[in-house]
Amino acid sequence: MLLADKVALITGAGEGIGQATALMFAKDGAKVAVVDRQIELGQATADAINKEGGEAIFIAADVSQHDSIKKMVADCITHFGRLDCAVNNAARSASFALTADTEEQHWDLTQAVTLKGVWLCMKYQIPAMLKTGGGAIVNISSLAGIQGEVFQAPYAAAKAGVIGLTQTAAGEYAQQNIRVNAICPGGILTRGMANYLDKVPGAREKVEGTHAMRRLGKPEEIADAAAYLCSDRASFITGHPLIVDGGIMVNPYLL
Ligand SMILES: NC(=O)c1ccc[n+]([C@@H]2O[C@H](COP(=O)([O-])OP(=O)(O)OC[C@H]3O[C@@H](n4cnc5c(N)ncnc54)[C@H](O)[C@@H]3O)[C@@H](O)[C@H]2O)c1
Repeated sequence: MLLADKVALITGAGEGIGQATALMFAKDGAKVAVVDRQIELGQATADAINKEGGEAIFIAADVSQHDSIKKMVADCITHFGRLDCAVNNAARSASFALTADTEEQHWDLTQAVTLKGVWLCMKYQIPAMLKTGGGAIVNISSLAGIQGEVFQAPYAAAKAGVIGLTQTAAGEYAQQNIRVNAICPGGILTRGMANYLDKVPGAREKVEGTHAMRRLGKPEEIADAAAYLCSDRASFITGHPLIVDGGIMVNPYLL
């Protein structure tokens, strides 16, 4: 029960890493505000938690919309009375193109959800946490934010921005008992990733081969890292971009 009695808000919790994180936080004892712009998926995550004896509500919100995020945090406080932990996980990559071929609208959409969305969430989460003496925030970045990713210029730039935002907020609020960390996942086997690997010939071998472990991660392996960083066990960790990548960064590719 790593997160017993804590109230956690998780964006993009309708599927993938966000869903696994919401389920794991509930198992670890947290009350969970499940946030997604897809109503059916988000509600299903909250229902699954409540069915297992946990406590969750679903809040429909779009992280790129200011009023939506202001209301998201207000709804969480109205229901649970406080906010202790947040995992800002929702993101979008709007294009797959060379840098010079990237459309401006794709650039803008990716920044709006993947970078501005994280800032908007923190803008309202931080004041809420300050009211009850502090909290812990985990922003989901990506290895793309550290080493770039070909064909994903807007996404890689946004994810690098998420690390900068994380470190800035960590420095600003450290003395007020708010810790802010990031997670930089490698390839994680979500539904979207599985579809891509099934569709593109040779992609599975190529993508798995970039990981020293020669496999993709499970959503739960990111959820575990998020639970730890949100817990009191990580009490001296702030401003850290935690790489959880099955060894992409240390890949002994000649082995
Ligand atoms: N899957 C990977 O290999 C991988 C690798 C590195 C980083 N990441 C990051 O992990 C996070 C989760 O990725 P995933 O693969 O689980 O994604 P996913 O596509 O499986 O799920 C994303 C969820 O976010 C929701 N969402 C999207 N835009 C939203 C918005 N504007 N407002 C609210 N909700 C929104 C979607 O409805 C969906 O439920 C993202 O930040 C992603 O960039 C994923």
